Amino acid sequence: MIVHHLQENNSILNKFISEIRDVKIQKDSLRFRRNIERIGEILGYELSKELSYSGVYVETPLGKKKVQLSYNDLVLCSILRAGLPLHQGLLNYFDDAENAFISAYRNHPNNDAEFEIVVEYFAAPSIDNKTLLLADPMLATGQSLVAVLEAIKKYGTPKEIHIVAVIGAKEGVKFIKDKFPENTHLWIAAIDNELNNKGYIVPGLGDAGDLAFGTKL
Ligand code: URA
Repeated sequence: MIVHHLQENNSILNKFISEIRDVKIQKDSLRFRRNIERIGEILGYELSKELSYSGVYVETPLGKKKVQLSYNDLVLCSILRAGLPLHQGLLNYFDDAENAFISAYRNHPNNDAEFEIVVEYFAAPSIDNKTLLLADPMLATGQSLVAVLEAIKKYGTPKEIHIVAVIGAKEGVKFIKDKFPENTHLWIAAIDNELNNKGYIVPGLGDAGDLAFGTKL
């Protein structure tokens, strides 16, 4: 897996990451969602540099110009519900992509810190031989991404996979590294050092789904 950790270089991305972490600013859920979307746009722009391009002619009112356009068949797959604002950010740029949605949640059968990932809902086109963009804002343990990888197998084998994440934990990044094909790219804005005993990223930002859409029962 090729890891692209964007916060290794300073950019405007720092501001958006700092706002989604900030306990005061993140209370504004509209701003939280929009910041995740903006981060999705930046991650999308960066990953677009790894796509395949070929020359085509466009006709302007005054002549013709050869331009390089990407020709990948993209499928953008997001994990419900926290992935929705990140999905929108990517879709703002990759507006021709096909879309897939999957639900993956943590089930705590004994009401303790132990959990299993339950995948229930999946709506997807064929991903066979296509470029799969897998959007999951919080790469904590990495277990949901691996569960999703398993679940999508019946929809075909992608040519390549780009995982798009906002904040990850070192442990989660390490966990998924050898579970995905070697040519997989991970585009991640920030990587934190720790997970707590509930599998939350520390310092992270809290619960991305709740911050974007409100608490649930
Ligand atoms: N999901 C979240 O929303 N936050 C975390 O820290 C981990 C998983």
